[in-house]
Amino acid sequence: MEKKWWHSSVVYQVYPRSFQDSNGDGIGDLRGIIQRLDYLAELGIDVIWLSPVYQSPNDDNGYDISDYQAISPEFGTMEDMERLIEEARKRNIRMVMDLVVNHTSDEHPWFIEAQKGRDNAFRDFYIWRDPAEDGGLPNELLSVFSGPAWEFDENSGQYYLHLYSKKQPDLNWENPEVREQIWNMMNFWLEKGIGGFRMDVIDTIGKVPDELITTNGPKLHDYLQEMNQRTFGNYDVLTVGETWGATPEIAKLYSDPDREELSMVFQFEHIGLDQQPDKPKWDTKPLDFIELKAVFTKWQTELDGKGWNSLFWNNHDIPRIVSNWGDDSEEYRVVSAKMFATFLHLLKGTPYIYQGEEIGMINTPVSSIEEIDDIESKNMYHERIAQGCDPQAILASINKKGRDNSRRPMQWDATVHAGFTSGTPWLALNPLYREINVAADYLKEDSIFKHYQKLIQLRKEHELVVWGEYRELLPEDPQLYVYERSYNGETWLVVINFYGTTAVYKDPSRQADSIILSNYMNSGMELSNLMLRPYEAVVYQLS
Ligand code: NOJ
Repeated sequence: MEKKWWHSSVVYQVYPRSFQDSNGDGIGDLRGIIQRLDYLAELGIDVIWLSPVYQSPNDDNGYDISDYQAISPEFGTMEDMERLIEEARKRNIRMVMDLVVNHTSDEHPWFIEAQKGRDNAFRDFYIWRDPAEDGGLPNELLSVFSGPAWEFDENSGQYYLHLYSKKQPDLNWENPEVREQIWNMMNFWLEKGIGGFRMDVIDTIGKVPDELITTNGPKLHDYLQEMNQRTFGNYDVLTVGETWGATPEIAKLYSDPDREELSMVFQFEHIGLDQQPDKPKWDTKPLDFIELKAVFTKWQTELDGKGWNSLFWNNHDIPRIVSNWGDDSEEYRVVSAKMFATFLHLLKGTPYIYQGEEIGMINTPVSSIEEIDDIESKNMYHERIAQGCDPQAILASINKKGRDNSRRPMQWDATVHAGFTSGTPWLALNPLYREINVAADYLKEDSIFKHYQKLIQLRKEHELVVWGEYRELLPEDPQLYVYERSYNGETWLVVINFYGTTAVYKDPSRQADSIILSNYMNSGMELSNLMLRPYEAVVYQLS
């Protein structure tokens, strides 16, 4: 496979609302990000994926865009954005922008026009259907944010499709004019020198609503090939598609370099392992660790040489992993955060760090729905209340799976509002910010931040981490995840104790030469009888 810069890169996701406020309005902004670039450079990351900063009425915090080529005033100006690209570049950091083109905001001029009537030139930019014979919904498609995916438009007597909120009407990708406008907009950003695109729910652009097909529609890959040819194919950039339902077969369609589509996709199979099959994400079940390992191994092996993996635990839609599958108590938060980091960063693929993960930020449970901002959680709450569900049970699901968990402001220091803002934060901080923050973590020799720094350094210094072959050992072990990476005659062994109790690893056939990295002092060297402490994670060089 031809080597590209993004194969050996580490990406850091910034959720701009919650990263750093520079003007005291309680909302993070572009100048705030610029102020923190030195911090990110010190961490060692190569790329920032910036969640949307475009003009938006914020029904879904920027994922409802009313102008793709304007910066939302609450984040700053186009000049600030250009400065951010430039200041990042000076530090060898590339800016990857969020591309949200499955839908626009209903306040986008295209939709405002389209709504004017059936004859409007922009009508066909969106997906309209007549009511069913009984006057009801065109079909039973549901919105990801609860309720039907169709909204009635009084003016024209038709329904429009919205797979997300009703303020996020779906674009009609069948219309070549829509695609043309999107290519122009993408080229506008590429010409500004960005480092690529993260493509929001890109697997839905080929939908066929009349056949109830939302993801992986028949024309999806034609559109992506056209996009590649007309836009970023002419630039040396990273492209990553958000594809919730991808299997390895599907992921290869996107990321096989010969097909000239995307660099890689986010697949979410591991993330869904604590959900009941075929139920909404709110209906959880305990994680099956053996299944988790099988999923990672499947993706590591099946994409090998034929595609590329994105590696992640967290993002702005997923609660904090250290709280959900690790242990966020005072005793084990630090070691378990480092365990997750080691587990992921030694795998083959491009790792993504979500803001705050590098200091072990945790979930923020709430006790009432008034404390919640996220539209997905709020809609689900009201829907289930109307169905007669127990409010406490609904809140428990929100505390476990709700998106506000990862959207609380970044915890920089122990001062008021954690140094995030001098004003009133748009969303309350996690109450533990005085203990868990960048300044406090940084002071410690064994900080989580430094552990991430070392992992990033290892990837930069050892081709084995980027290109080495992956092999899992002990797939049936209920507590340990053990894998090897081998490259040019060298082998590293990664031994992970996933749980908060001790474990023993016995491998008389292998010999450790040295310890490359551990989340504890004095980790054992005798692989024939290796005692592992709670959440201990060690990387060995084998002799
Ligand atoms: C996925 C984004 O990550 C999420 O935050 C958003 O709500 C939906 N797509 C809709 O754009």
